[in-house]
Amino acid sequence: MTDTLDTLYDAIADALVDKGYFYTQNALPGLPTTSLQQRIVQLETEDALKRAGIGRDSDHHINNDIRQDQIRWLQPNQAAEQDYLSWMEHLRVGINQRLFMGLFDYECHFAHYPEGAFYKQHLDAFKGRTNRVLTTVYYLNDGWEVTQGGELILYAEDGNRILETVFPETGTLLIFLSDRFPHEVLPTKRDRYSIAGWYRVNNSLNAQIDPAS
Ligand code: OGA
Ligand code: MN
Repeated sequence: MTDTLDTLYDAIADALVDKGYFYTQNALPGLPTTSLQQRIVQLETEDALKRAGIGRDSDHHINNDIRQDQIRWLQPNQAAEQDYLSWMEHLRVGINQRLFMGLFDYECHFAHYPEGAFYKQHLDAFKGRTNRVLTTVYYLNDGWEVTQGGELILYAEDGNRILETVFPETGTLLIFLSDRFPHEVLPTKRDRYSIAGWYRVNNSLNAQIDPAS
C-alpha cells in the first residue's frame, strides 16, 4: 500500500512539474468513495448543503449567472469526511516532500450541481491575493455518460485552448495549480457530486514571498 501511494505521489509530483496539473480516471487507493457518496446523500436529506457564493469576506455574494452549486465544507468529526481529509493530508506531506511547495493546510467542500447547474469559467486564485495554491477535485458519480453534460473543462492559461475535458465519473481526480488554469463546469443534465478542495500556504509566508501589489 505504501509503495502504491509513493508511486502515485511520484506521478502527481512529476505531472505538476511537467504540466502544472494531474489527472486520473481511476479510483485512488484507499479513498473512501462509497462512504463519501452515502455521506453526501445524507447531507442532502438533512438540507445541509447551501448555495455557494463568489468573492471573499465582505465581497462574498451569491451570483446565479456564475455558479449554481450547493456546498458544504468537510469536517473532521464525521468518519467518511475524516477519511478523505486524512488521505489529502498524506498527499499534502507527499507533495511537500517531493516539491517543497510549503503546502500548509487543506480545505474542501462537497458540491452538488442540480440538473441545469453550471460554474462559468474562472480561476480559483489570483497571484498575491490568496493563499490557495493547489486545487483538487474528486468526483462521486457512478456511470456518467457523455450525453449528460457536467464536464469540467480545463483551459490553458489563455482561457481558450482546452487542455482536458473531465467527465465527473466516480474515482476521477484532478489536481492543478490554482492560479494558472481557468476552468468551468458545463451545465449538467443530472445531479452531479464532487469534492473541491485547496491546499494553501501559510498566510504570512505567502505575503513574504508574493506580496500583493
Ligand atoms: C470550484 C470548481 C469544479 C467541480 O469549486 O471552484 O471549479 O467540478 N469545481 O466541482
Ligand atoms: Mn474552481
